[in-house]
Amino acid sequence: MDWKSRGIELHHGDCRDWLDSVTADAVITDPPYGIAHNTNYTRFTGGLSDHRNFETPIAGDDEPFDPSPFMRFKKVILWGANCFSDRLPMGTWLVWCKRRDNQIGTFMSDCEVAWQKGGHGVYLHRHIWNGFDRESERGKTIHPTQKPVALMRWCIERLKLKPGSTIFDPYMGSAPVAQAAIELGHRYIGIEKDAKHFATAVKRIESLNMLAA
Ligand SMILES: C[S@@+](CC[C@H](N)C(=O)[O-])C[C@H]1O[C@@H](n2cnc3c(N)ncnc32)[C@H](O)[C@@H]1O
Repeated sequence: MDWKSRGIELHHGDCRDWLDSVTADAVITDPPYGIAHNTNYTRFTGGLSDHRNFETPIAGDDEPFDPSPFMRFKKVILWGANCFSDRLPMGTWLVWCKRRDNQIGTFMSDCEVAWQKGGHGVYLHRHIWNGFDRESERGKTIHPTQKPVALMRWCIERLKLKPGSTIFDPYMGSAPVAQAAIELGHRYIGIEKDAKHFATAVKRIESLNMLAA
């Protein structure tokens, strides 16, 4: 597929080689949080194996995340920012509540948060995404820290970008930002270091009807 003519650039590699040179209207990304997250979820199922057993850790998650290279971009949203808030200036906080009311406080985090450059407000998005209890994308889990496309659509809409703007996602994972960007008529530059996740991202994007040749 000719990605470039459709305003989509996907790169397999280390984004740190691109961070100083990319031109984009906005960054929306979900980086490694620096928490050495255990991606083998069968520890919660008594060892029962299912499709949520990812044996490989998230690349780069064993070292502190440095958000400073992103500050030069005009519009920025960084997920996982509660883990590196000490390295961020004041900004807007986006809260994603992923639990039903009766699930609050039962097991691990109820919400995830992102930092948005500028402002100081706190905004909430509700979208159920709790293990197998999901409001969208109920099929197979394709990435150990997969985020919903609907959440990324909310992020893009918050940024009030002009049609055809370029969104840069240097920690692409399975590419939910790409899908949301394409569906909303934007251009997209994504980078992913892990070959398996890069292949997953390509598969997702190739499966989008709107890009079918
Ligand atoms: C938290 S995950 C993003 C998951 C994504 N939100 C999704 O829904 O699939 C971070 C991703 O960044 C990738 N990554 C880590 N360090 C990287 C680097 N230096 N350059 C490019 N990708 C990197 C990891 O392999 C992982 O897929």
